[in-house]
Amino acid sequence: MDIETGRILSSSNSCRGTPREAAWEITKSNPHTSLQVLDDHDGPSPEEESSLMEINVQSLLKEIDAKNGVAQFDLEISFEFRNLTYTVPNTRRTLFCALPKFANCARPGDSSSTSRHVKLPASPSVTLLQNLSGKARDGEILAVMGPSGSGKSTLIDALAQRISREKLSGSITLNGQEVDGHQLRNISAYVMQDDLLFPMLTVQETLTFSASVRLPACHTKAAKRARVSTLLRQLGLEKVADTIIGDEGCRGISGGERRRVSIGVDIVHGPLLLFLDEPTSGLDSSSAYMVVKTMKHIADMGSIVIMSVHQPSDRILGLIQNLMFLANGQMIYMGHPKDLTDYFTKFNHGYPIPSAHGNAAEFALDLIQVLNCMPGGIKPLVDRFKSIRASAHGHSSSATTADQRRPCDLSTSSKAVLHPAIPTGISGAIAASIAKGRLMSTSGYVEHCNDSATLILKFANSRWHEIGVLIWRCIANIRRTPELFYTRLGTVIGSGLLLSTIFWQLDHSPKGLQERLGFFAFAMSFTYYSCVDTLPIFLQERFIFMRETSHNAYRKSSYVLANAIVYIPFLGVLSLAFAVTTFWGVGLSGGVHGFLFFFLIIWASFWSGNSFATFLSAIIPNVILGYTVVVAVLAYFLLLSGFFRSRDRIPDYWLWFHYMSLIKYPYEAVVRNELMNSSLASDNAAAACYETAGEIFSATPLGLILSQPKIVTVLEYLRQNYMSGTAYQNLNTSTCMIDGAAVLQNQSITQLGKWSCLGITVAFGALYRLLFYVALIISAKNSRR
Ligand SMILES: Nc1ncnc2c1ncn2[C@@H]1O[C@H](COP(=O)(O)OP(=O)(O)OP(=O)(O)O)[C@@H](O)[C@H]1O
Ligand SMILES: [Mg+2]
Repeated sequence: MDIETGRILSSSNSCRGTPREAAWEITKSNPHTSLQVLDDHDGPSPEEESSLMEINVQSLLKEIDAKNGVAQFDLEISFEFRNLTYTVPNTRRTLFCALPKFANCARPGDSSSTSRHVKLPASPSVTLLQNLSGKARDGEILAVMGPSGSGKSTLIDALAQRISREKLSGSITLNGQEVDGHQLRNISAYVMQDDLLFPMLTVQETLTFSASVRLPACHTKAAKRARVSTLLRQLGLEKVADTIIGDEGCRGISGGERRRVSIGVDIVHGPLLLFLDEPTSGLDSSSAYMVVKTMKHIADMGSIVIMSVHQPSDRILGLIQNLMFLANGQMIYMGHPKDLTDYFTKFNHGYPIPSAHGNAAEFALDLIQVLNCMPGGIKPLVDRFKSIRASAHGHSSSATTADQRRPCDLSTSSKAVLHPAIPTGISGAIAASIAKGRLMSTSGYVEHCNDSATLILKFANSRWHEIGVLIWRCIANIRRTPELFYTRLGTVIGSGLLLSTIFWQLDHSPKGLQERLGFFAFAMSFTYYSCVDTLPIFLQERFIFMRETSHNAYRKSSYVLANAIVYIPFLGVLSLAFAVTTFWGVGLSGGVHGFLFFFLIIWASFWSGNSFATFLSAIIPNVILGYTVVVAVLAYFLLLSGFFRSRDRIPDYWLWFHYMSLIKYPYEAVVRNELMNSSLASDNAAAACYETAGEIFSATPLGLILSQPKIVTVLEYLRQNYMSGTAYQNLNTSTCMIDGAAVLQNQSITQLGKWSCLGITVAFGALYRLLFYVALIISAKNSRR
């Protein structure tokens, strides 16, 4: 393989329009493949100097003709979509629409509907996006505008390939090459409308976590810290770096700052494409301006930014180069925002936009609302745009007027204007992006089996690194909310003490045996029930997890493992507390060995209960529903554990559930530990007696009639006449009639030893973690329904 080394010095690209240059000094002599990128966008700061990074690009460099050593390139990156149409089954019927008071009543794609003459669509499907085409370039912000319900979010989702491709027709290309969702995921970021952040982490910790998982291992810790500092500065978050994010209950940073942190989390690795759904909504005008300014800065650094916006101010419009206007899923304008006034003035038959409507964008929104409620709907707007686009298609080279020039360049060729040395298509876009100092997660460039393609490694870091970082975040979260752990510990200690006082020093009488079994059944089911509080924990994290894994920040399996590793010691502390508060209080047998086993089986129960609740939280994304199901299933587990009805008496058709019962195994383990305790090495030696011959009448009506001397006489009579040659030939009042082994036989606890029960309980915990992982893979798909 011909391996080369390249060094790219990307020049400042802050001035749009001038061709950006990159000097590629490619030294063929070095046998190692590496590409160094020195980022000097704003003039290199000491921090940026330290973010000098090495990026391996074997396949990419092969595609670059470096024969002359140094080459000059035009590094344009273009993202183009053509004829995008998205149709979904028409499941919702907007009955409200029939009422005149609902003014904005047109269905998407129904350009001719009116408010008063609305008919519910008879068609079985509804078209949310109709034949949309457009183009976005690096260095520019493509803003999507339109009234509520016009399809902005749907378009952003479609472009980010977050909706099912079967229902979406048309093409999405990067530098002329069709991109699929998998490729896009690795080079893009999607900033959702909601800020999904851990409220208890500080701004700096949040960004540090993101840098740790999104930037590859070739970046030193210092380089990652430098990247976080740069981001904090770029996002204007330096002042609040050490403030927690906060939530409704705990005041943290402001809404605008939170928005910028959300953006920072997704851009830490310098994505080539950045999609944002309404990044400014809910913010005051100055915060909104700050956010869009940050976006502009990111675009200037070489990313393509595509975002939806609601009613942007003039200042915000000034930062946008490309504006797309949607109405009912159709395009009614595409071009520079400054041409908007001209465009709509012409549409308004030359009458200027009334000042009462504010800027042209607001006028356009109002106009759509008005047209929507008139016969014909927005058809005139759609037709006008179509005709201008059609005429521009024919005269694109000679177009001179404002509304011919910009709205129509969506029809230009999708072929990227690149130096022949840079491959076009996705590889070319990636090469250009790296040259601009973007795509910092690309150290993982690997050669694809197909010669012509290059790939970025799916994950930037190794599994162990991911697990380490996830554990760090989990512990940081737990440390900030110690009350949650202490509350749970308090509950466990309180319950242990309560049980101790209720079952204080149980004796070995037949009644004491029943109470002992009752204590075990309750104690084991308590460990499972107390794990129910795990349920909301993942439900809270669920959307953060989905956001993070949707762009391959880390492996889902790393999350599952880290989550388990963090819990195990905490559950150990809870188990110890429960074992200490009950073992001696209740008067259980077995001394230190018995205690240790009791502690271990409680730990195993907490572990399998925790895993079970975690698994359910992945398949039932609703707390109330989740609680209902967990409580019911645990009740069935207890019912069929063998305590209420022994195994040999459970109807055959329910036996399968008996074996699936999580409570059966720890229950049997503690009963065995208690009843067969005299030797740890052997389960066969019984120690305690639970019923002597003198007690056999005590639980019967005869017990009231027969006094102790009479019982002695009866036993003596039996011994003399019936017991010779049997195990009871020495029968007297103290002969043991029911020992531990007999109890186990009676309870049908005969199939498994206590260590096997312990092993099965632990294995159940592992199995439910595995099922949790499978559920995450199936349910956490990053596509909208
Ligand atoms: N799966 C679906 N089935 C049917 N209709 C849908 C579906 N998804 C979205 N819609 C409809 O498509 C239209 C566009 O939705 P979208 O969320 O893209 O609007 P929007 O422009 O982002 O609105 P807003 O500004 O309020 O966020 C809406 O009328 C919405 O109700
Ligand atoms: Mg929306």
